[in-house]
Amino acid sequence: MFLSKFCGSLLASVALLSSAVSGQANPGGCTGDCWTHDPAVVRRDDGVYFRFNTGNRIGILKSNSITGPWVFQGSAIPAGSKINLAGRDDLWAPDVSKVGNLYYLYYSVSTFGSQNSAIGYATSPTMEAGSWTDHGATGVSSTPGRPYNAIDANLVKDGDSYYLNFGSFWANTHQVRMSADARTASSSAVQIQYQPSGSHPAEGPFMYYRSGYYYLFWSEGTCCGYDRNRPAPGAEYKIRVCRSNSVNGPFVDKAGVSCTQGGGTTVLASHGYVYGPGGQGVMADPSHGTVLYYHYVDTRVGFADGDKKFGWNILNWSGGWPSV
Ligand SMILES: *[C@@H]1O[C@H](CO)[C@@H](O)[C@H](O)[C@H]1NC(C)=O
Repeated sequence: MFLSKFCGSLLASVALLSSAVSGQANPGGCTGDCWTHDPAVVRRDDGVYFRFNTGNRIGILKSNSITGPWVFQGSAIPAGSKINLAGRDDLWAPDVSKVGNLYYLYYSVSTFGSQNSAIGYATSPTMEAGSWTDHGATGVSSTPGRPYNAIDANLVKDGDSYYLNFGSFWANTHQVRMSADARTASSSAVQIQYQPSGSHPAEGPFMYYRSGYYYLFWSEGTCCGYDRNRPAPGAEYKIRVCRSNSVNGPFVDKAGVSCTQGGGTTVLASHGYVYGPGGQGVMADPSHGTVLYYHYVDTRVGFADGDKKFGWNILNWSGGWPSV
């Protein structure tokens, strides 16, 4: 009884918050296997869509469109990572892009809340299940005492140069330059985004280039476990953005506030039945335009991590800033 009252008042607070950020579109359709966490979506040249998930040693799903039907194919790294760290059998936060003729999959090896972390990578000519070769370490790693947590990688290309954005909590999002083949770190890490308040709850960077700007998206707030321990309204995951005309920054938000001093324009937060959207990426889709995709909780279904769903929206770039 007490419990259900308590949950009722939490839900009422969530509803109030939602009306404050109304105007955000509901997620586009999804059929088939729509569970996801930290999705990465890549459209192959033949038009087949691949979606990669945290869990299942990086689950692979396929579809002929972003709306589905999505069909589970298997694990990208079924034997676990070559990296000898706790978490090598529970890989997180895939990031997939094409480098030359190969697809590169970056993944995180860590355990929840630990700074003993490393970013590994695997390659494939096709992205199909069974086609991935794990190569282990990129050289981006962390231990307690470092200003970042080496998780949540995202590769970005600038001319002929590759950079890996990653992190984090601690001192948030950092960036390293990568070798010419994008396999290993070739510089020390530089901070590109920082939320000084609270527990510095920012992670999951994703950079997207458009019309002269590098847009740095990230997820801010509490990601997980909403069924057991729901954060104060507004402290759950949301998707924020800053931009710069250089891949290395400095990044600022729409109001001109520095991204390393707490800046960030919110692109998508809880609204209506959507709660805690994050783990995002952006892709250019030939049928829809630029698409923001993410995981979220559908409050009509359930708040557990096992209830998370794949969401996507078309981005509107009016005024040079993305909105949904
Ligand atoms: C994009 O946003 C602008 C500014 O808010 C708005 O006027 C326009 O109608 C939007 N475009 C679409 C396609 O929704």
